[in-house]
Amino acid sequence: LARPPSLPPPSGSLKELHELALRCRDCPLWKHATQTVFGKGPAPTTMMLVGEQPSSHEDAAGEPFAGPAGVLLDRALKESGLNRHDVYLTNAVKHFKSESHGKHRLHKRANAAEQAICREWLAAELREVRPQRILALGAMAAQAFFGTTFQLSMSHGRWFKLHGGVDAMATWNPSSILHSINRDTHDHRYQQLVDDLRAFAAGPE
Ligand code: URA
Repeated sequence: LARPPSLPPPSGSLKELHELALRCRDCPLWKHATQTVFGKGPAPTTMMLVGEQPSSHEDAAGEPFAGPAGVLLDRALKESGLNRHDVYLTNAVKHFKSESHGKHRLHKRANAAEQAICREWLAAELREVRPQRILALGAMAAQAFFGTTFQLSMSHGRWFKLHGGVDAMATWNPSSILHSINRDTHDHRYQQLVDDLRAFAAGPE
C-alpha cells in the first residue's frame, strides 16, 4: 500500500494540488468513491480546520463538510464568531470509504495505511495554506498531528505546539456529535465544540 518512495511528494499551488489529487491512485480508496474531496478556502490564511474523511454527502458534493455534519459545524462556527469562509477547511483523508450492503453504501473508516498515504496531501496543503493555527476535528485528524496515543476526551481544547511553531488544538468531530449515544452526550459535546472553537478563534496566550 505504501506510496512508492520514488514518487516525489505532491507540490504546486493549491489549485494544481487539487487537480493532482483528483487523479490520486496512491491507495485503493479512489475505486469506490465518486471523487476526491479536496480542501477549500483562502490561502495563505491564519486558521485551518482539518476533519477526518468525507461521508457520502461530501462524496457527492466534492467539498468538505457538505452534509448534516457541515450544518452542525456552521452552527458551532457561528456561535463562536467564526465563519467557514474565513478558514481553510479540509480532511485528513480525501476519499469516501464505503462498504456495499445490498443497495446501500455504508461509511467505513479509512485504515491506518490509507490515512498515512493521504497525509502527503495534507502536508502539501499545509505548505500552501501556511496556517498559524490548526484545529483537528475528531480523533483521526488529531492523530495525524499528535500521534496515535492522543485522546480527544482528555486533551480536546488544549493548545499544542507542532514542529515549525504552528499552534494546534483538537476537538470533537461534528459527525461524532451527531452520532452521540444520547441527548445529554450530544448537548455536552456540542457545547465543548463551541467552547473549543472560541478558544481556537482567540488563539493561544
Ligand atoms: N464531513 C467531512 O467532510 N469530514 C468529517 O470529518 C465529517 C464529515
